[in-house]
Amino acid sequence: MHSTAIEQQNQEWQSSHPKAILKQALSDHQAIAISFSGAEDVVLIDLALKVVTDKSQLQVFSLDTGRLHPETLAFIDQVRQHYQIDIHVLYPQHQAVEQLVREKGLFSFYQDGHKECCSVRKIEPLRRKLSELDAWITGQRKDQSPSTRSQVAIIEQDSAFTGRNGPLVKYNPLANWSSADVWQYIRMFDVPFNPLHQQGFISIGCQPCTRAVLPNQHEREGRWWWEEGTQKECGLHSGNVIAQG
Ligand code: ADX
Ligand code: SF4
Repeated sequence: MHSTAIEQQNQEWQSSHPKAILKQALSDHQAIAISFSGAEDVVLIDLALKVVTDKSQLQVFSLDTGRLHPETLAFIDQVRQHYQIDIHVLYPQHQAVEQLVREKGLFSFYQDGHKECCSVRKIEPLRRKLSELDAWITGQRKDQSPSTRSQVAIIEQDSAFTGRNGPLVKYNPLANWSSADVWQYIRMFDVPFNPLHQQGFISIGCQPCTRAVLPNQHEREGRWWWEEGTQKECGLHSGNVIAQG
């Protein structure tokens, strides 16, 4: 898709329901997949299954970094069984993990930042998966981070990664939904959810890098809490940070 067509589509979709966006996205690309983190982005799967005629049309993948909470792993499997769908779980390259841990131990991110570990455990497997696709779908929302996500587009060219034929389109159908919209949907349609949400976790990432937040604390404050707010992107969505300058 040409960049002006993408920009025009983005404008047109600003007040569209995520279901309509997903329907169009899934019919426009054959090699397209939902990137499922095991958190409240489960609504993407629920919505997408309402617009496909055959479940096999839906591709879903998750990045198992080796450091997810056991609850999140159990939830990914629960979602697989609940919806009777395949979830392609990707793992990091064991040589790279072993080298990082041998050189710096298991918790290097607390000393020198999360970028290196995220790059080994999340970005490499993501890059590998995206190289098979033409487009991917994420659960990013504007309200998830005032500092890095306030400009999230519904459709954008992903310049950080390459697809199977080069350009890669990224869809963020929930960009304009609030956390309240997501949770209203989850309750209304009895969507299964990660039990960590009942323990004060709002945003859920890897276990050592996520903590529960207090009332009125922003959800992003529970992620990489020892780092600067503007750095709180792991590289999956690095375009957000670049866009901030
Ligand atoms: S992150 O970049 O800070 O880790 P966040 O947890 O907010 O991202 O999730 C935003 C979206 O990124 C999710 O809705 C999902 O599409 C994708 N994502 C994040 N973590 C994973 C993961 N482990 N596996 C697959 N997709 C993920
Ligand atoms: Fe490593 Fe933490 Fe990044 Fe997970 S979130 S890949 S544990 S630095």
